[in-house]
Order: sequence, then structure tokens, then C-alpha cells
Amino acid sequence: MAEKREILVTSALPYANGSIHLGHMVETIQTDIWVRFQKLRGHQCTYVCADDAHGTAIMLRAEQLGITAEQQIDNIRREHIADFTDFLIGFDNYHSTHSEENRQLSEHIFKQLDTKGFISRRAITQAYDPEKNLFLSDRYVKGSCPKCKAPEQYGDACEICNANYSPLDLIDPKSVISGATPVAKESMHLFFKLPQFTEFLKQWTRAGHLQSEVANKLAEWLDAGLKEWDISRDAPYFGFQIPGESNKYFYVWLDAPIGYMASFRNLCEQNAELDFDSYWREGSNKELYHFIGKDIINFHALFWPAMLQVAGFRTPSKVCVHGFLTVEGKKMSKSRGTFINARTYLQHLNPEYLRYYYATKLSDAVDDIDLNLQDFVGKVNSDLVGKVVNIASRTAKFIAKAGGELSANIASETLWQQFTTRENVIAEYYETREFAKAMREIMGLADLANEYIAERAPWTLAKDENRAQEVIEVCSMGVNCFRALMIFLSPVLPKTAKASEKFLNCPLHWAEPLQFLGRHRIQPFEPLMSRVDAKLVQKMVEASVEASIVSDAPKPAADLAAEKPDSWLQRAPLAAEISYDEFAKVDLRIAKIVNAELVQGADKLLRLTLDIGETRNVFAGIKSAYTPEDLIGKHTVMVANLKARKMKFGESQGMVLAAGPGGKDLFILEPHPGAEPGMRVM
Ligand code: MSP
Ligand code: ZN
Repeated sequence: MAEKREILVTSALPYANGSIHLGHMVETIQTDIWVRFQKLRGHQCTYVCADDAHGTAIMLRAEQLGITAEQQIDNIRREHIADFTDFLIGFDNYHSTHSEENRQLSEHIFKQLDTKGFISRRAITQAYDPEKNLFLSDRYVKGSCPKCKAPEQYGDACEICNANYSPLDLIDPKSVISGATPVAKESMHLFFKLPQFTEFLKQWTRAGHLQSEVANKLAEWLDAGLKEWDISRDAPYFGFQIPGESNKYFYVWLDAPIGYMASFRNLCEQNAELDFDSYWREGSNKELYHFIGKDIINFHALFWPAMLQVAGFRTPSKVCVHGFLTVEGKKMSKSRGTFINARTYLQHLNPEYLRYYYATKLSDAVDDIDLNLQDFVGKVNSDLVGKVVNIASRTAKFIAKAGGELSANIASETLWQQFTTRENVIAEYYETREFAKAMREIMGLADLANEYIAERAPWTLAKDENRAQEVIEVCSMGVNCFRALMIFLSPVLPKTAKASEKFLNCPLHWAEPLQFLGRHRIQPFEPLMSRVDAKLVQKMVEASVEASIVSDAPKPAADLAAEKPDSWLQRAPLAAEISYDEFAKVDLRIAKIVNAELVQGADKLLRLTLDIGETRNVFAGIKSAYTPEDLIGKHTVMVANLKARKMKFGESQGMVLAAGPGGKDLFILEPHPGAEPGMRVM
């Protein structure tokens, strides 16, 4: 085995103004699997995290709840810790950025930046809420776009025409907090001179610390030119005061990553084996891994290495970036019940199901990952219950009947060799965060073991008294395969691994090459994992819809989606209200149906060829109401800017709108002389 590594690992610090949801869990589960793998391999791996407790949002949230910011962050921190613990996340420490360690480190780093000449000071003009006496960040001002006049736009950019502007350029700007009209007010700010680090960062981002797609993205930003970074905020603000300034606070993102160091320092104070300086000093030979989402790359791969370098600390070994969670192919949505809080999930389902499902989806790429609920049920039931646990439940009882002792004889050398030759491949996939590939390897081995057992059929052999020894050998082979699979899966399924240790009566280690157990007594088998009950998944979705109605009461409005409701979601109430601008993004066009044909194998679909000035292929579920001949020559309205979708029968390039209760009664437009293909419908 390679030499012992010493690795400090972090996941991004969740904000203390909201609950943990299944999106956050992508990150903590990914990190936790990697950390558990390293520990299993015998390395010294330390996993720290914390709540990100500072900023205006947290201050306002506390005010809304009528409690102090300190009370708010204490409550949320407790809630976050409970959620993570129940998802079996094995933090070595979970601290807060609002801590003494973090204050000291933040002040220290700031002073280094300042004395070394990397801080500039200048006055800037910002929107100011004259009622709340508060400077307003861009997101706290709304008004109409100065360019296209679209209403209800945020103060930084227009979501309709993409224009960039500053909040006071908005037509009729309003403070989101009080509704007051903001005024322009000047104040002095402190800036970190990031442009001076351009060369350093061009090198650093190409030195193997980042996935190549991330490095490429950063190269674009670096080539476009970096700006100085505003690191101060005026009072009132919930955060740390900047030493030597009056009424200025560190911007939350200045002290947030320093929170990684602070959490580790706090741990070092409790654990004499860990030495803060040896991990953080410049040139440290220990490793530092940050796991983050794709939305916070600039903070971790630009500002953070630059700050660390100036302050005389080491920079990260790797920043590992993951994509965002979608549910059923779409952004998580409260009204659909797909914005699922960690706690809601835990009230219905076993955390290991999700850990495994995410593992089957995760790779080293920055792609988004999708939680498809049907696929989730299918994978967990067929892989974990049907393949892995099944091996133990089919074989253990014969061992128990024969006295509980395994045979040391390797009944199938070929099968065992598959396990011992694949173990390094699996380990390498874990190391490189290719968890999906690791899971595929592991399930491939489980298939082989099941095939072996089915072929040797111990239940048939057991009927013949003369073959008792054979039964023990075949089943011992099965139990050894199960043990190997549980070792490989233990970073993903720590709880089932623990229960398996009891059953196998030996620890699951992976610090040395896999060993076949010798003559060894095992314990009676108890069911290790039950099947996912699909009804509970549906209940969880329903509970998520209810929770969202209670928490922020979106007004339901007509759901325009003409898609067939998914069986998991069909009992969801109407979708959340959308603004006029969101609606205006839908490009509706008059389309002429130039061809229509049956689709083989589909009982509801027709394949339509539409003319909207260009030709589109669309699959529409209107076979119940029309024959193809009926449709040719008719007009219809189509959603022309819907992203093309790969369907079982081909690509669908848009969606046709029809109205009616369904079945035979679905109506589209009759041909109309004034309707030109491609006309916009308002
Ligand atoms: N507080 C900052 C991080 C500071 S780190 C020094 C923050 N907090 S967050 O709560 O918004 O997000 C925490 C982590 O969860 C981030 O890495 C973020 O990318 C990740 N995710 C939040 N929502 C997510 C999904 N829907 N999907 C996947 N990851 C997501 O950012
Ligand atoms: Zn605009």
C-alpha cells in the first residue's frame, strides 16, 4: 500500500439562512464518500465544514423572525448538523464562520493584504434605502429595465434583454426590503487588488489543481481581465468589523473561505494529533481538497488562492467542482414538490438510498446531475437489494444451518480472481471521483457472484445429504463475495457496512489487498436493507409541495404545460405563479401542419412536420383526437423556443398547443387565410 497521506477536505459552507435541501446533499454526499474512501484506505483524512453565518440576508431573516442574528445562526446550525448527521455525513468538525477563530484569522489575513499593499480604498456610489438606512446590493433593488422597459428586474441585469446596468439606472427603482425609492449615496470601500495576481492565477489555474473544463472557463475570465474585488460593506451588516476602519465590515465572501481554516483550527484545539500550521503553512506537504458547486468557482479558484498566497499560506491541492441537481430533468421546483428538503427526505426514506443513487450519477465532470424518482426506486431496488444484499441472504442461511462456520477453500478461483483484479480499478475510480464508474464495476462483480450462486444452486445441492460440504463451500464463496462488495461499497453505505461487520463478524478494511476469509464463524443473517417503497417517494413529493405552500405561499395559477403529468407528480397542485416577463419568454408561433404520420409503437403520439417559416419535427400526444389525414393542412399554435428533446422515437423540436378535456375532444386551429406560418401569437 502507498504511503500514508494527510488530507484536509472541505465542502462549501452552507448559508445560515435556509434549510439543507437535496441540492446541497449532492455536495456533502460526494465529499463524504471521498473522505470515507480515504479513511478506509488507511490515510489520515480530516473533513471539516461550518455554517456560513454572515451577510445581509441572515441579518434580515433574523429581523423577520424577531430574533437576534446570533440566535438565528445557532438555530440553523443545529438544524444543519442534525440533517447532515442523519444523512451519515462524517464531519470531523462542523463550526461557524461567526467564531473567534475565524475573526482572528480573517483579521490576520486582511492585515497581510493591507500591509503588503494589496488593498485600495476609494469612494463608490450605491443605492441606499432611506427608510431602512441600509445600502442595497443589486439584488435588493427592483424596477423596470432602462433598455427594454421590462418590469420587475433586479438591479444588476435584465433577465429579458440581458442588459447590464447599475440599480439606480432602473426606471422607478424600489427597495425590495422596504419598498422605498432608493437614493444614491457615497461611501468609502476597500478593494482587493486582484488584477495584480493575473499572472499568478494564469499559472495556478493550469497547474493541475482544477478539472480542465473549470480551468478553461477561468482562462476566459482571466483573458477578459480581472477587476478589483470589493471586500467591505457598510453598517448595518452582520459580520466582522474591519480593524482600523469605522463601521466597515468584511464582505461575507472574504471571511467565508477563511471559515475552512477556522473550523480546522477549532478542531486542532481539541485534537492534539492535528497541527494547524503544518497543514496551512506555505510549502506544506499535506493535501488540501475543496469540494464546491459550479456557482462559486471564482471565489475558490481566483480570490482564495490569491489571498492565501499573499498571506503566506499554502494554496489548495485541488478544487473539485460538481454540477447542480435537477429533479425529473428540471430545476428543483417548490410547486412541483421537487424542491426537497433534507429533512423531508429523511422523514420518508433511508439516507443510504440517496447516497447510492447519487454515487451512480457522480463523476469528475461539472455536468448537472438528475434525480429521476422512478430511476431512483429502480436502481436502489435492483442493485442494492436485488443484487448485493441478495447474495448474503441466499447463502448465509445454509452456513448457519451447518453450524455457522465458513470454509477456507476458494470454491471458484475464477470468480475470486475477478474480485481481486478489479479492486484496484474500483479504488482508482473512487480516488478520481468517478463514482458512477466505481458503482458500475461493483455491480458487475455482484452480477458475477449472483450468476455463480444461481448456477451452483445451493438450495438444490442441500437436498442431497452427500453434498453438504459442497453447499458450505459454495455459500462460503458467496459470503466472501458479499464481504468484498460491502468493503467496496462502505464509503457509500456506511450504515449497512456497519451492520454487515456484525453479520460477518469481522471489520471491513481495505488498507491491504483483498483477503479471502479463512475458517471463520459468522453471525446469523438479519435483513440489511429493505426495498424502496414507491408510495413513500410519492408521499415525500407531496409533503414537499405542502411544505412549500406553508413556507412561502405561492399563488397557484393555471399550468400551461401540456405535457402528460408524470405519475410521481400528478397529484401536485397547479404550478406557482409566473410573472408576465417569464411568460413573455415563451415564443408562441402559428404553425402549419404540412405532414402528420403515425409513430410505430406509440399509442398516443403523432409525428408532425410543422412549418413556421422553418421546418420543425414535433411529437404530439393527440392521436386520440385526430387521424394524420385530419391534421394535414391545419394550423396550430406551437411553442417555438422550447429546447429540443430526445424522445424514444426521435427528437421533438417544440410543442404543439391544443385545448380541451382530452380523449376525442382536443382542439387545434382550423386553417385560416390570415394565419401565416411563423407569425407571433400574443
Ligand atoms: N455560503 C456559500 C459557500 C461558502 S464556501 C466558503 C454558499 N452556500 S450555499 O448554501 O448556497 O451552497 C453551498 C454549496 O451547495 C455550494 O457549493 C453550492 O454550489 C451547493 N449547492 C447549492 N444548491 C445546489 C444544487 N441545487 N445542486 C448542487 N449543489 C448545490 O454558496
Ligand atoms: Zn431589458
